[in-house]
Amino acid sequence: MKLKKADLLYRGKAKDIYKTEDPEIVIVKFRDDITAGDGEKKDNIDKKGYYNSIISAKFFELLEASGIKTQYIKLLEPGMMLSHRLEMIPLEIITRNMAAGSLLRKFPFQEKQELNPPIIQMDYKSDEFHDPMLNDDIAVALELTNRKELEIIRETTLKIDKVIKEFLKEKGIIFPDFKIEYGRNNKEEIVLGDEISPDSCRFWDMKTCEVLDKDLFRKGETGVIKAYSEIASRILDEEDKEKWNITE
Ligand code: TMP
Ligand code: ASP
Repeated sequence: MKLKKADLLYRGKAKDIYKTEDPEIVIVKFRDDITAGDGEKKDNIDKKGYYNSIISAKFFELLEASGIKTQYIKLLEPGMMLSHRLEMIPLEIITRNMAAGSLLRKFPFQEKQELNPPIIQMDYKSDEFHDPMLNDDIAVALELTNRKELEIIRETTLKIDKVIKEFLKEKGIIFPDFKIEYGRNNKEEIVLGDEISPDSCRFWDMKTCEVLDKDLFRKGETGVIKAYSEIASRILDEEDKEKWNITE
């Protein structure tokens, strides 16, 4: 499928959003670009968009089946996802089941310390301000959202964490933390958008604790695409693996 430049609505650091004939429907194009440090570190990794779109589609389908409203309609082909158009809220909603990453740099947690109940943290999505952590009062004062929406976001996020954590446990994957983003549809309902992929989550092998996510790129290590394909291969069912040509 050919996408036209004229129909480009938004270009992010790793995805493009294209208009379709239906004003309420968009196509999300997952690119191979990969960045870290608010876009300072950049690369392009062949097939990254391919795997991230397939992995995100699987998680969105899983969540839809659990009654969670998502932007996802269907995968047109690897890399291209038909989605409902949302007005995105510039908040990164981060859920932590285990202490890792920036939590260890900012607070005296022990590495891999279990966090039960999970911690939900919000960052303001802004490269200019370096995604600062914020709280409900700041988000409301900035008019990004309101109390009612924040309540829905919190409740939905905890449910998403539970559904994915349980699903991944059966696949031998630990789910230390993840970042999601929400938007509003044309009925002003809160809907899960963006992606759920190794770019936006931490995934560790249950037996070896091997890192299977973007932390490899952030730390300058090799094997990024091997890790992403490993996640796809573990979470997809046989039918999807055959359809998208995912080999073990
Ligand atoms: P952090 O420990 O670096 O704050 O990351 C927490 C989670 O959020 C982790 O699963 C990776 C994800 N994440 C993003 O999706 N985008 C980002 O810009 C950052 C920094 C983290
Ligand atoms: N959001 C960060 C960046 O753009 C990437 C990350 O660390 O995940 O560069």
